[in-house]
Amino acid sequence: MLSRYFPPSLLKAIAAKAGTPAYVYSRSAFLRQLRSYKTAFRALAPLFCYALKANSNGALCALAACEGWGADVVSGGELYRALRAGFKPEKIIFSGVGKTREELEYALRSGLLFINAESFEEVLALEEAAAKLKISAPLSVRINPDVDPHTHRYITTGKLGGKFGVSFEEAQKIYMYAAGSRHLRPVGAQFHIGSQVRSAAPYARAAGRLGAFIVRLAARGVLLKYADVGGGWGVKEGAEMPDPAALARAVGGVFGGTGLKVILEPGRSVAAPCGALLTKVIYRKRGGDKNFIVVDAAMNDLIRPAVYGAKHPVAAVGGKRGPRKKYDIVGPVCESGDFLAKGVWLAEPSNGALLLVLSAGAYGFSMSSQYNSRPRAAEALITGPSSWRLVRRRETWKDLVALELP
Ligand code: LLP
Repeated sequence: MLSRYFPPSLLKAIAAKAGTPAYVYSRSAFLRQLRSYKTAFRALAPLFCYALKANSNGALCALAACEGWGADVVSGGELYRALRAGFKPEKIIFSGVGKTREELEYALRSGLLFINAESFEEVLALEEAAAKLKISAPLSVRINPDVDPHTHRYITTGKLGGKFGVSFEEAQKIYMYAAGSRHLRPVGAQFHIGSQVRSAAPYARAAGRLGAFIVRLAARGVLLKYADVGGGWGVKEGAEMPDPAALARAVGGVFGGTGLKVILEPGRSVAAPCGALLTKVIYRKRGGDKNFIVVDAAMNDLIRPAVYGAKHPVAAVGGKRGPRKKYDIVGPVCESGDFLAKGVWLAEPSNGALLLVLSAGAYGFSMSSQYNSRPRAAEALITGPSSWRLVRRRETWKDLVALELP
């Protein structure tokens, strides 16, 4: 159970001191997940690049960097955060379908491991940026392997017809062009088939296609060093710690013994179980035949239920005895899509009670907003059995208007 990482006494202390809503992270759960990747993949010894988009809080990033992880970034802002958190530039890779020229230059100046390009035009922009800096840019191409990962359609990225990557044919043209350029150095190939992928089979299929392509390229004189299989390993929508062992078998089955350095870009499977959203009951009410619990967290804090239909488990802090009823847990935002969970069985919580929305460490805070002029939540890190610290203060009403100009 994930909730064992979040002792009620600490949650109550956090709510009293930092207020609610608050994201609460467990240092030990985060480290456990980072290490579970290392254990599962020990035979392959890949480079793990934590996908910052899942949760870019500096305290978590610093932990990943200390564990020897690299970073996968998708914007200049994430690159800035990654460098600031202590990730080594030579372990950072830069992905994304629309990197600007400024971002490409920033990446090259920072000395990253490589850039995952997603179009011929981007490769030309990268070449131009490298020529300007009089260097040769380490290039990897994001290839769309045309594999269906069977996940939510908004987070399916490895099917042809989507905006991501290029086909194998186009990739071959890019590599042949890059091989003849003074300012491009082809070093790797990548795919990322989607997110919240719950089966290893699509990885085995995509990795097989990528492996065969890398062999074909070598026959044409382009020798790559890195095979990057992206991120996307899923989290069961329940209170569990995801295990990457099946993923390791699928990837190892293709790339083990090839001499290629494998790269993985996990985000969710590392960050989701380490975080929970702590919220307080404001009101209870009935509407038609439904029971509602109105809490102080809303869709601006956790948008996943509204956008992806995600089902985050909800637990009463400290538990509560008594007959259970079915509740919809909703926030104060003026939209019917503003719910954190629907049809949850709970003993009736008292007004002011604390609830914990679990498995929310990934794409929770990082997708939060100030919608309805709600300051973003505080973030706290549990560092030991009875210790915690604030790792981002709650925004204030002043923060809401701080950047506006008259
Ligand atoms: N690498 C690339 C190139 C990606 O686009 C992503 C996620 C990852 C790695 C990390 O994938 P992960 O291991 O976290 O699944 N907001 C959505 C998820 C979007 C994922 C986007 N790309 C959600 O809340 O479910």
